[in-house]
This record gives sequence, structure tokens and C-alpha cells, in this order.
Amino acid sequence: MRDKRNLHPHRPSLGDLITSKGTAMGLQGKVALVTGAAQGIGRAIALRLAQEGAAVAVEDRAANDRAEGTLKEVEAAGCDRAVLIAGDVGKVEDDQRVIAETVERLGRIDILVNNAGVERRADFIDATEADYDLVMHVNLKGPYFLTQAFARHVRDRGNGGRIVNISSVHEELPFPHFASYCASKGGLKMLMRNLSVELAPLGITVNNIAPGAIKTPINAHLMGDPALMQALLKNIPLKRLGSPEDVAGAVAFLAGDDAAYMTGSTLYVDGGLLWNYTEQ
Ligand code: BGC
Repeated sequence: MRDKRNLHPHRPSLGDLITSKGTAMGLQGKVALVTGAAQGIGRAIALRLAQEGAAVAVEDRAANDRAEGTLKEVEAAGCDRAVLIAGDVGKVEDDQRVIAETVERLGRIDILVNNAGVERRADFIDATEADYDLVMHVNLKGPYFLTQAFARHVRDRGNGGRIVNISSVHEELPFPHFASYCASKGGLKMLMRNLSVELAPLGITVNNIAPGAIKTPINAHLMGDPALMQALLKNIPLKRLGSPEDVAGAVAFLAGDDAAYMTGSTLYVDGGLLWNYTEQ
């Protein structure tokens, strides 16, 4: 008897598309590269894209235990096409190699997630060239040249692609003592807007996600200090820090079919932090 649940035998049925975690496998057949995936937001993104059915390249500066940990989690989520790739995104030659190695090992790349990021706190008056270079190289130069190598790959194979940059509310909002970080994220905003126009003919969409305060190692100093945490929570209408999974869900959306017509946008995942203003 004909299986009424699947009238299109060559297409998977909805039942086939549900993972053990109950997630629809909207990214089956796609290959995603996630930078800075050893921990925090990057790790959650790699895992979520794997749960959505994508093959995943887990990228980080070194193939250390933490990066291996992400790889194992991704594999445990049922992803049998996962690789670990080490590279310093702040170096152009590494960016080109990371893209080439992913294509070599996974066949192609459809989704680039520029997640790797760092911040350095300093009074502007005292900030050093070394800190400036580190922040700008990882947060802006990296996405620039990874995206360039990715766009060349997409141009050569056709069929389009998705770019999701993990930016910050600080692509808009000043953050005193973090001038280099704000400059890098403001730059990432304009890079995204520019490329959404310039890469559209290649069928590439480019969007940013702007997280607020998220429970990750970058905010370890906040989470360990109750007074700082209280002050921060006052600024967040939803009264909690975000989770890496909150951000990963937005990446899955932007990488999937539902976001096919979105390009040049920033999605804020910040519990309302950015637009919060109250008078007591
Ligand atoms: C920064 C965090 C900060 C948060 C909210 C993020 O982009 O990395 O240090 O707590 O923005 O201000």
C-alpha cells in the first residue's frame, strides 16, 4: 500500500526530518564552517547546525582538547561528517587555508559562520597597539578574508551560500573601555551591509547576529562578580543573561530556507538590552 505520509517518495517525510532532539533537519546536505567553535557561542552553533543535519567544520585557533570536545559533541549529535580545522583567523593565509581545507575534506561549503571574536578592556588613553591589532585582526580582518575565500569558492561552484557574522550589540552601542571591540563590530556591521549588496549576484546572503550579554567565557569576569551581574541585569529587560543556544537558534534560522529573502540585516539576540531606556 502506498505510504500516505510521504506522497513524494524522493523527498524525505516530515518524520524522517525530525531528530531525536525534536529539531527539524532543515540543513541536511549542507556544509557549514563555524569559526571559534571550541567554546561558548561557537560551540553551541556547531552543535545546533549538526542537529539540523549539516556537515560541520569545527574551526578554532588550535586543535586542542576543547576543540576536540566540540567535535565529539557534534559527532554525538549524529553528524557523521564533521572535521576539526585549526587556524588563526587573524592571518590571511590561514583564512584561505581553512576554506580550502574544509572544501577538500567536506566537498564544499554552503554556510560560513564568522563567530571567532575577542575583546580587550582598556582605558582608551592607555590602549596598546598589540591589543588593538589582536581585536581588529580576529574580529574584522578574519571575517573579511574568510568571506573573500568563501565567496570565491561559491563563485566557482555556483548555487549560492549563506554568511552569518556573530557581531554584538556593540556594533551599535558604545561600550566605554572597549573602543577597539566597538570599532571592530561597527566595521563588521558595514562589511555585512556592503557585502549583502556586492555578493547578492552570487546568491550569497549576508547577515549579522548581535548578541547581548551571553553566558560564555568572554563574560566570565561578570558571572563571577555579583555586583557587576546586578548592574548588568538592570540593563536587560528580560532579566537574564542569554545562553549560547539562544544565539545558535538564530543562526539556524538565518542559515535555513526560511531566511532565503533576508540579507543585509542584523538580528539582535540581547533580551532587549540595546533599546532599553528607563527613568526611575
Ligand atoms: C561583550 C560582552 C558584554 C556584552 C553586553 C558583548 O558583545 O562581548 O563583554 O557584556 O556585549 O554589553
